[in-house]
Amino acid sequence: MFKSQLKTLSVIVLSSLIISQSYSADDSKKVDVSESTFKCLSALAASGRFFVDNILGDLDATLSVANSSSGGNYPPGSLLTLVPDEAMIKHQEGWNPATNDWEFFLLGLSAEGTSILARGGAEVASPSGSCFGCHQLARSEWDLVCGVDHGCAPIAFTLEQIRDAQATDPRCTNEN
Ligand code: HEC
Repeated sequence: MFKSQLKTLSVIVLSSLIISQSYSADDSKKVDVSESTFKCLSALAASGRFFVDNILGDLDATLSVANSSSGGNYPPGSLLTLVPDEAMIKHQEGWNPATNDWEFFLLGLSAEGTSILARGGAEVASPSGSCFGCHQLARSEWDLVCGVDHGCAPIAFTLEQIRDAQATDPRCTNEN
């Protein structure tokens, strides 16, 4: 097969994969998420290197998985964030089995609050690539949470850079 045909074929295969993954989301299992769902990081609970919330109110259930040394399945409503402009939220069981019901968010931040730049499943990407592409490498007991030793490739930022980004969330200057 010619190189160009091969390229076209792989684009078609890739796009249909992406389309089938985003279309598999079952809206009846979706937890309501809007821009006001996202808060300044200092309003969230810290767990190790990242911050958590539970937008359905069960913060204890989310914290107990986040703080567990053996992993576990995060409950619906769990919101996790490492750096202020990226977050993942757990929908009800069955929303999107391909991502274990996690939805990925890329956020725009300002003193006025949060805007949602991109949301969804495997198609959502940060400048360093697909969120799901990296997070799916976490061993299954970690429910797509990478941490530092769960099987994902490391990110290009040091802990110091991460702490810096967390401490300079522009939303924290206001009541967001
Ligand atoms: C290049 C691979 C890669 C990409 C792309 C990536 N992540 Fe991550 N992510 C990681 C790794 C590795 C960690 C753990 C980093 C640490 O603790 O130092 C992490 C940490 C996180 C955490 C904290 C919980 C955890 O898994 O440790 C969240 C939430 C998160 N990422 C969300 C996202 C979202 C949302 C996107 C896309 C907008 C994204 N990530 C893109 C690799 C990636």
